[in-house]
Order: sequence, then C-alpha cells, then structure tokens
Amino acid sequence: MLAWTKDSGALGGLTLTEVPDPVPRHDELVVRVDAFAPNPGDLAGLRELPGGAVPGWDGSGVVISPAADGEGPRAGERVIFLSLDAAGWAECRAVPHSMTARATSAISAEHLATLPVPATSALRGVRRLGSVLGRRVLIVGATGAVGRVAVQLASRSGAYVIAVARDAGRHADLRRLGASETHRSVESVRGRVHGALDLVGGEQLVAAYRLLDAGGTVIALGHSAGADEVFPYGAFVADPSTANRSVTSFFLGAEPDLVPDMTYLAADRDLDVGPLDIRQWTELGDWVAAGGPRSGGRVVFRVERA
Ligand SMILES: NC(=O)c1ccc[n+]([C@@H]2O[C@H](COP(=O)([O-])OP(=O)(O)OC[C@H]3O[C@@H](n4cnc5c(N)ncnc54)[C@H](OP(=O)(O)O)[C@@H]3O)[C@@H](O)[C@H]2O)c1
Repeated sequence: MLAWTKDSGALGGLTLTEVPDPVPRHDELVVRVDAFAPNPGDLAGLRELPGGAVPGWDGSGVVISPAADGEGPRAGERVIFLSLDAAGWAECRAVPHSMTARATSAISAEHLATLPVPATSALRGVRRLGSVLGRRVLIVGATGAVGRVAVQLASRSGAYVIAVARDAGRHADLRRLGASETHRSVESVRGRVHGALDLVGGEQLVAAYRLLDAGGTVIALGHSAGADEVFPYGAFVADPSTANRSVTSFFLGAEPDLVPDMTYLAADRDLDVGPLDIRQWTELGDWVAAGGPRSGGRVVFRVERA
C-alpha cells in the first residue's frame, strides 16, 4: 500500500512511498483510510518520529477486516478512529477496536475525519468540568478544532459560554454556535467562571485561572501559544471566594473508554465543524513543507486510490 513516511531528506520531511500492509494485533481491525485531517500534535510530533515511520493519529474510513478477537465494528462498516501510535497517513491502517467507533454514512468522510482527536478531547474536557448547567464556562482558543466543538457541547449542556478568540472577525460565528459572550482576550472578561477549557496556554491560562470561582478548574488542554505560564506571587493565596481552585492537565491518550463518546460525535449531524479545505492526499508533503497553512477552515486530505 501507499503511505506517507518520515524521510528527513525529503521536502517537508515526508515521502509518499510503498510500504508493507499493516499486520493487526488480535485486538486491532484494519481500516481503509478515506480521509484524515492533521492535528497540531501530528505536525509537532513529526520531528520525533524515526525514519520510515508513518505519521497520522486519526481519520475516517471503512473496516476492511474486523479484529480477530471478535470485538468492534465489522467489515464494511464506516468508522472514525484514533491512535496516538501514529500510522494513519496511509491507504490502510491497523487500529485497536477500543479506539474505533461506528459512524453514520449520512455524514461525509471528510467531516468525520475532523472529529476523533479534537472533538473527543472537547467532549472530555467539557465533561471534566462537571455539570455546567446554568454555569459560566470560559473557552479560550474557541476558533480552533477543539474550541469550536467545545463551544457547541458546553452550550448544549446549558452553560453560559464565554468564548475567547483573538480574531474578532470570527466572533459572530462563535455566537451562532452558542457562545453568549465573545472576547479577543481573557483580560477583558468580567465576572467569575465555574470552569475554563484552555487551548492556548501562556498568559491566557494565567488570566483564566484568575477568573475562577471557588472550586473552579482550568483544564489546560492545549498549548497553542507555545508560551510560558507565569503565575504572580499571590495567585494561589486563597480566601473563601477563591478556595480550592485548580489547573489540571489533560491527555486524550490517558482517557479511558472513548468509544461511546466517539460514536456519539460520529452520529451528530448537528455538530458544526466549520468550513473544510479538502485536498488530495498526494498534496500532503507540500502542505507540511509549507508549515501546514490554513486559510479556508480545517484542512482535510482525501485518500484517493488509483
Ligand atoms: N492534551 C491533549 O490530549 C490534546 C488533545 C487535542 C488537542 N490538544 C492541543 O490543543 C490545542 C488546540 O488544538 P486544535 O486542534 O484546536 O488546534 P487549532 O485548530 O490549531 O486551534 C488553535 C487555537 O488556538 C488559537 N491560538 C493559536 N495561537 C494563539 C496565540 N498565540 N494566542 C491566542 N490564541 C492562539 C487559535 O486561534 P486562531 O484561530 O486565531 O489561529 C485557535 O483558536 C493544541 O495545542 C493541541 O495540540 C491537546
């Protein structure tokens, strides 16, 4: 089969080449990959991969052969999948059934491909805040793949959603998705919040922590700013109104039992993943070499076979 492999000598560090078909473990099924949408973590992780490795965490496709242990989707079923053991930028991949969810054929392969890592992370992040019904929830980095879904899920769950995105031109869209307030920076948010999902890090995370109610939590899910988080002296000195606040880290790979949540997301025709910039997968190497530029929404690669 064809796959993109790590090749330090190639432009962008990737070559589309012939590799052996995947050999599944007993708990893995083999999927024909139809589409994938690179995540920031996929791109950041390229540097660490050894030569010849196939990158790519997630995507959508159709099961070619079910898992030998009899669990999970059957041959011919449409699925979404994720595995942080990369291998997805290929015509086929092996993936554990514990990371594979049935998907409806009523949703396009390209839309489905945007879901596994970001939407599942958004769902788990929002859920970790506990009941948000009637509570103020801050989402920082709301225009990204995770943030966009988090705004919708928190709003559906009854939260008063405060969305922070540096591009004010996209605030109207965030309000349409369910945000009650929009800001360009956490600094301009007034009033306390029950919890926050932070996709940006740096000063925005520190500012989000300052806004927490007693007992509130910032989920430090993303680190897009690539900046230090410096808490001033006194940030953790508490009084009754600021007691028991916390910042907690998050790692999707450590989250248990993802299939029911992935199945929920893959069946959700109302989830708005934004505009998709759909390209042929043969263009992936050039796109990575150019730094993974985005202008018209999430970039999705469609795997066309000869
Ligand atoms: N911990 C985990 O398990 C896990 C799982 C999934 C994702 N993540 C991480 O979560 C983060 C978001 O992922 P994603 O897929 O949503 O990425 P994304 O689509 O690239 O979105 C990134 C978001 O951060 C904003 N942003 C980037 N740099 C910024 C800066 N310097 N100041 C303010 N805002 C900034 C972007 O704003 P613009 O739209 O204006 O560019 C966008 O809203 C990434 O760091 C990713 O690696 C972690």
